[in-house]
Amino acid sequence: MVQSCRIPRCTRVAPAPCVAGDLVGNAFAPARIDRYRPAVERLTSRLLDALVQAGDPVEVNEQLALPLALGVIGGAMGLPDDDLPLFRTWGDMFLSTGADRAAENERAMLEMSAYMAGRLGGLMVDAEPRPEEGGLLTVIAGNAVRRRTSLEETALLAAGLVIAGRETTAAAIAGFLFRLPTTRKDGGETLYRLLVAHPHHIPRAVEELLRTTPGTAFESAQPRRAVRAVELGGVRLREGDLVIPAIDRANRDPDVFEEPEHVDFQRTRNSHLAFGSGPHACLGAPLARLEPAVVLRELTRRFPDTRLHHAPHDVVWNTVTSIRHPAALWLDLASSERAR
Ligand code: HEM
Repeated sequence: MVQSCRIPRCTRVAPAPCVAGDLVGNAFAPARIDRYRPAVERLTSRLLDALVQAGDPVEVNEQLALPLALGVIGGAMGLPDDDLPLFRTWGDMFLSTGADRAAENERAMLEMSAYMAGRLGGLMVDAEPRPEEGGLLTVIAGNAVRRRTSLEETALLAAGLVIAGRETTAAAIAGFLFRLPTTRKDGGETLYRLLVAHPHHIPRAVEELLRTTPGTAFESAQPRRAVRAVELGGVRLREGDLVIPAIDRANRDPDVFEEPEHVDFQRTRNSHLAFGSGPHACLGAPLARLEPAVVLRELTRRFPDTRLHHAPHDVVWNTVTSIRHPAALWLDLASSERAR
């Protein structure tokens, strides 16, 4: 089975080495992810302080999830803060769906790539390994020279990384913050209150929320194409057949997960596929786990009585892009802040 890369226009297919993995190296490897923790904590804290200042109700996408996810990936890349709003606009244009949006998608891709090419040009001068302190862009540039990757392809990867890092993570944070105050454990406490009482469950709660909260409107990963006739799950595929991996269904497979519909923050065996699998599995998964974990820890600690401002059925879900998240999520929280 081959799979085309998620990076826009990347022509490589698995099992050929993934260009994203080649260029980013092990920057986001689980063992190295703690180096991003202080930045995630600082930004989360700043954003929560600003929520208190703004007062209830607060809107999660605009006031917390999007600025956090973009600030973290932008900071990791070493991009100037003033340029980050550009990626907001490009991300919205690039991910908007519908046949009439093709020109907009294309324009965003060209503009983002041109921006990144401008930043990378001066950095792609030699193949010396670069310290990550200079920002991921410098590491990518060094790897690109060493691997003889063109400026065009490198710029596309770098832009794709910012978009991939922002949209999905922000959507996960907003999706989790919709579910936690609105879902009750066995008809009792809300899941949010459970985390207030048991903050040490947060890492496993993040895994369980990833497993049970679909990340895209299509609930699927990138399509794969069969390179030869093969039988898959009892179905015979011919060479060239297209397969759409239904991640959300796999994450609720009763042969894999005990009581799959049950949200269990103490589930120990949780080999979900929220980040895909194989050569194109999510490159930023450790960062994508860290950000919601920090948000949940700080939010539940500082605002134990957080609740939805509107009734759950009044929350409207995003239809502009393929990423699944509440279009707006209003919470009441600041009035209940605990002393720090
Ligand atoms: C909760 C947040 C996230 C989710 C649910 C998510 C999910 C995924 C999934 C399912 C794939 C694989 C697609 C497939 O197999 O077809 C993927 C790939 C990818 N993700 Fe993520 N992701 C998240 C956050 C991030 C972050 C923070 C970054 C960057 C720092 C990132 C960068 C990438 C890249 C570069 C790929 C393509 C890898 C390749 O093609 O080799 N993602 N992501």
